[in-house]
Amino acid sequence: MKSKIAFLPGDGVGPEVLAEARRVLELCGRLYDRTFEITEGAIGGTAIDRYDSPLPPPTIELCKASQAVLLGAVGDRKYDSLPSAKKPERGLLDLRTLLGNYANLRPVYVFDPLADGSNVRPEVVRGVDLVFVRELLGGVYFGTPRHRDKSRAVDTEVYTADEVRRVARVAFSLAQSRRKKLTSVDKANVLETSILWRETVAEVGRDYPEVALENLYVDNCAMQLILKPKSFDVVVTNNLFGDILSDEAGVLAGSLGMLPSAAIGGFAGLYEPVHGSAPDIAGTSQANPIGAIGSVGMMFEHSFRLPEAAQRVQSAIGRALDKGYRTRDIYSQGAANQKLVTTREMGDVICKLVEQPDA
Ligand code: IPM
Ligand code: MN
Repeated sequence: MKSKIAFLPGDGVGPEVLAEARRVLELCGRLYDRTFEITEGAIGGTAIDRYDSPLPPPTIELCKASQAVLLGAVGDRKYDSLPSAKKPERGLLDLRTLLGNYANLRPVYVFDPLADGSNVRPEVVRGVDLVFVRELLGGVYFGTPRHRDKSRAVDTEVYTADEVRRVARVAFSLAQSRRKKLTSVDKANVLETSILWRETVAEVGRDYPEVALENLYVDNCAMQLILKPKSFDVVVTNNLFGDILSDEAGVLAGSLGMLPSAAIGGFAGLYEPVHGSAPDIAGTSQANPIGAIGSVGMMFEHSFRLPEAAQRVQSAIGRALDKGYRTRDIYSQGAANQKLVTTREMGDVICKLVEQPDA
């Protein structure tokens, strides 16, 4: 079977981490007898430099013809002065819209060997296994009116019940397949959109009687994530809160570089690490490719119905960490049995462990 994959490295550390993810993708293609036709396209700052647009027409055509999109990262300070409509980030937002991916799954899984290195106490983070379901196509990211002059600026938070309903369904069915607990996060004590959010989520919940639904205000959720992260299973929230809380949760996993993501619901899945372009370390071989490689695992699960391959990638990541391999971001000073490795070396180790799980 042949599947088309759009490969969009983007900016900063994007190309470095995506090169490793690509090797894992090609390797699993061979192992599971699938042909992945991988075609590279430009997005973000790289696309602005080449095509004067953060999501140029050739990339749009490529993504439209693909079953899945693998993306590195977008953004660089050098584009800070461009108007919003021309910034690298706009390319990613437009791509999400183009694909129609309204639900962004962001799992936060704490690999055991990293629990001791977390800035949060080991007994608090050990065993954390939660998933954010972030609404991805609505809210203040896209709401109108939206404008700015010298002394006044406006952004608009808008949600329709339909937008809340469809993402809530994804979250409830995910919770149903896991530990059956769903936390819905809002600011219903202040925001009208949050009142609608809360009511709509409760209404969808009637179709999932086995799932226990809890509501939390976002400020409280931000605190509970650090105090009792193990109390969470699936967390559903709006676009902006999901963006903020998932970076916070990166601390639990040891580094934001650990987190993968999948954006689903549209005609082709979009897979990208949660971390950004990290221009400060771009080109230094220090970036952690695990978030990107984990995103390939999510692609196997959600776009290609290859749960075995997804599991194999996840286990290989776990084994690499068990063996002590660490990129700079997850290296803990003073701890025993660690080997500091480059982006490439981490990719090598994970590929080897995908190929020979018992090595
Ligand atoms: C993310 C990023 C993006 C977002 C930016 C780059 C537009 O921070 O995927 O979390 O805010 O959604
Ligand atoms: Mn973010």
